[in-house]
Formats: sequence, C-alpha cells, structure tokens
Amino acid sequence: MTSIQDSSLRRPLGWPVSTRTEEVNLRRIAFAGLATAAAVAIFLVDAFSPLGLAVAVLYGIVVLMSVSFCDQRGVVLVALGCGLLTLAGYLIGHGADEPGAPLLRALVSLAALAVTTALVTKNQGAADRLVDSERRYRSIFESTAVAIWEDDFTGPAAILARLRRNGVDNLDAHLAARPDLVRQCMSAVRGIDANPAAMKLVGAADKAELKTSLPNILLPESEAMFRSLLVALAGRADTFASETQIQTLHGERRSVLVRATFAPPPQRHQRVLVGVVDLTERTRFERALEEARLELAHASRVMTLGELAASIAHEVNQPLAAVVTNGEAGLRWLDRPVPDIAEVRACVEEIVTQGRRAAEVIQSLRAMSRKGEQQRAPVSINGVVTEALALVARELDGRGVSVLLDLEPGLPDVMVDRIQLQQVVVNLLVNAAHAMELVESRELRVESRLDPAGQVHVAVSDCGIGLSDQVMSRLFTAFHTTKPQGMGIGLSICRSIMDAHGGRIWAECNQGPGATFRLELPVAGSAVP
Ligand SMILES: Nc1ncnc2c1ncn2[C@@H]1O[C@H](COP(=O)(O)OP(=O)(O)O)[C@@H](O)[C@H]1O
Ligand SMILES: [Mg+2]
Repeated sequence: MTSIQDSSLRRPLGWPVSTRTEEVNLRRIAFAGLATAAAVAIFLVDAFSPLGLAVAVLYGIVVLMSVSFCDQRGVVLVALGCGLLTLAGYLIGHGADEPGAPLLRALVSLAALAVTTALVTKNQGAADRLVDSERRYRSIFESTAVAIWEDDFTGPAAILARLRRNGVDNLDAHLAARPDLVRQCMSAVRGIDANPAAMKLVGAADKAELKTSLPNILLPESEAMFRSLLVALAGRADTFASETQIQTLHGERRSVLVRATFAPPPQRHQRVLVGVVDLTERTRFERALEEARLELAHASRVMTLGELAASIAHEVNQPLAAVVTNGEAGLRWLDRPVPDIAEVRACVEEIVTQGRRAAEVIQSLRAMSRKGEQQRAPVSINGVVTEALALVARELDGRGVSVLLDLEPGLPDVMVDRIQLQQVVVNLLVNAAHAMELVESRELRVESRLDPAGQVHVAVSDCGIGLSDQVMSRLFTAFHTTKPQGMGIGLSICRSIMDAHGGRIWAECNQGPGATFRLELPVAGSAVP
C-alpha cells in the first residue's frame, strides 16, 4: 500500500511509469526490513534487559512504520504481532514474578499499541480513499477525449506582478501594446503534465515535445486569447474560457474552445488546468449547415416570387403604362401651335415618378431573387414590413384582402439581413391570404411594437380558417402543408431565419376566427448570437 504522499501519482511529464514502480517497491522492502529490525531490537531490550521501563510502548513505532509497506489489514496483523511480542517479553522477563509493576507496564504498552493501531488504521482508511480518488482522477485524465494540460504559471505570474509593482493598471491594454511581454509569459509557462488527448490534438510524438509546444501551437490570433488568460490569471476569476484557433505541430489549423481553471490559493499559479476541446469538425459542420440554409431560403424566395409573378408583372406594368400615357400626352402638349410648357413639365414629372416606382419594384424583385451571403445591418422593422406589403399588395388586392396597418412609430432598428426578414414577412402575408381564401370577411392586420424587455415584435393576424391542433403541432416542420400546391417549407425557413437572428417566431389561435403569427427580435446593439 502506498501513502498519500506517493509521488507516482503526480509524476512529471515524460517520467517512465515502470521506473517509478520499481523504486516504490524497493522503498517498501527497505521500510519492512527496518521495521522488523526495530521490532527485534525492542523485543530483546524488553525481554532481556533489567531496565524497569515500558520499552514495549516503542512497538507503536513499528506499527507507524508498517503504514509504509502494508495495507490496513497488514497494519492490524503487525500490531497483533507486536502485542504477542509484548506478552512474550513479559513472560520471559517477569513470568515467574508475582504480578506487579512489570505486568502494569506490559498492560499500558498493550493499551498504547491498541490506541496507535486504531488511529493509524482510521487515518489509513482516509488515505486509501484519497489515493483511490487520485487514481480515478488520473484515469479520467488519461482517457478523456478532452485535451488537458496541467501547467505551472508561476513564471508568467511573476512577470505580471512585476508589471503591477511598476504601476501598470490596465494590464490588458499594456499587454496589447507589448506583444513581446505576452511571448515572454508564454515561454515562462512550465508544463507539468498533459494527457494523451492533448498529444493527439497537437500532434506531439511524446510528452517532452508537448511540454515545449505552447509557443509553437499558438497563432497570432490566439495570442489575444492567451493575453486575456493572463489578465484573468492576474484577476480573481476561477475560470477562463474562450474560442480561438491554434495550429498543430504539423501546421494544421484547429478551431478550439479553451477553458482554464485556476486552483484555489495558494496554488492559484502553480496548478492551472487548461482543457481544450477541438471544435474544428463542429465549425465545418455549422458552416455547411448555414450554406444549406441559405440555399434553401433562396430557393423558397424564388418559389414565392414565382407564385407572385402575375401580380408583380402587373405591379411593373401599371407604372410603365402610366409612363407611356404621360409621354403621349406630353408630346401632344408640345405639338400645339403654342406648346404648353407647364403641362409638358407635369407630364415629365409623372413619367419620372412612375419610372421610379417601376424601378423600385424591379429592385426589390432583384434583391429577393439574389443569392448571397447574409448581410446584417441595422434595419427599421417598419420599413421591412412596408416593403414586404408592397411586394404582395397586388396579390392581396386580387384576393380581396384589406390590410390594416398599425405600426408603432420610432421603433429602434433591428440587426438583420433585410432581404431575409422581408422573406419572413412575405411568407406570413401570403399564408394569411391563403388562409382567408374560403372566408367572407378577409381582413389582415399587421402590427409592430416594442415590448418592455426591449424586443421588437411584429404580429400578422388574419381571420381565416385558423389552426387546428394537428396543424399547430406541425406548423414549423419542413414539408408539412395542407395546400394542394403547397411545399410546406415557408414556415420552417421563417423559423430558421429567426433563429439565426437570435429572434423567435410562433403562432397563436385568435379569440375570434383566424390565426396570429408573431415575430420577436432583439434590437440592434443588444447581445445577438
Ligand atoms: N395563417 C395561417 N392560417 C392557417 N394555417 C396556416 C397559416 N399559415 C400557415 N398555415 C398552415 O401551415 C402550413 C405550412 O405553411 P408553410 O410552411 O408556409 O407552407 P405552405 O404555405 O407551402 O403550405 C400550411 O399548409 C397551413 O396548413
Ligand atoms: Mg407558405
């Protein structure tokens, strides 16, 4: 059995395990020999010397020594052996005498032995549990998929303390201006240990290589992370976490999540555990997912435009017809014997206005059918609602839908991709128009509000067929539709767009007929994921 101080559990990097085990065994044998010699010496003095002392009390030392080479049961056996030797010593030295002081001494020695053994075994039980928990910790450390480094930051801490003494208040700014200091701190970190997952992540051949790898795996962008870690170390935080990029010793880039845990004082700097999770695969997967989402959103936009094509064509035709009419009228005014310049001017002004209107429709059409990266900017939600309404105005008109607009003026901007948000609102408006196909009164209400929590809300209410429980439960599921020509992806795309913007979309049944779809978005400047 090992004692709690057994340093085989805390061996430094790269120390071969077998050498340590042999050394520990040798130490145990030496202790056992020493304890046996002590027991024999005590027995000889106790049994054969004329000293009138309780020499047998010294057997307690043998019991204490046995902790170094026995487990709990072994210690009890050693104590029993010592008890027998105490009795034997008494019988040899004073067996023939009347019971008196020697018997009393023997009994006191036995009592002392019993108490020592009880205390030692109790203590050893606790020590065994500690060793056991250390073993468990070690096996987790060795087998976990998370790369873990145990580092000594005493060197960097000393550098930071010197800066403080020299009057540096804003450590972060000071270190940002002195990258050489950050590098110096980096080189001053001493690796104590690291697990196999860390070796794998970094691509190190052995722990010795891993020990000196820190300056080589940090990229210029990860130096900022290391700087923040130093600031956290100098402060009071217990942990520090950050996402960053590192490179392996073979030069491959990895996206990682770094989390450092500082031990409680006084070991805060000596034992810093740094866990590193490889996010490369996740980041790649997320990027692919985002691309697929954009593709799908684009496809659905183009589809919606297709559905709206007839009414949009009309929307462009109308101003074009007005341009032609005004052009003809203008020409007629010019052809008069005395051309009426004022009338001609009015015609030309109308041509410009109508031309602009047509251009606007075409521009928003082009924007909607454009495919590209998200472009987030501060956007007025009321503006988005109005533009979306303009796109579907004719469609709504053609279906006999009247629109009631109730937009709160002066709402703060939201940080969104304008086209994607427009797509959400267009989807809701078209769905509402479809839902009212079979009802008499076709009224659509669009509202915008700022709630007390600082979120912007948009509500689109119709008085259509409403939402049955069955439809409600699968509303945002892709490819769920109740329409013969429907695709069922509109709402699922709306939800993914809202999620991507840190917002929400949900539906409610109205008190009266119909349904209300609600959007919620954080205002620009608040924390958006
Ligand atoms: N305003 C609404 N009122 C009633 N049902 C609705 C409304 N909006 C959507 N739905 C239901 O949700 C389903 C899914 O809508 P959506 O994802 O836009 O796909 P699609 O419009 O192609 O069917 C619709 O088929 C319909 O059953
Ligand atoms: Mg739809």
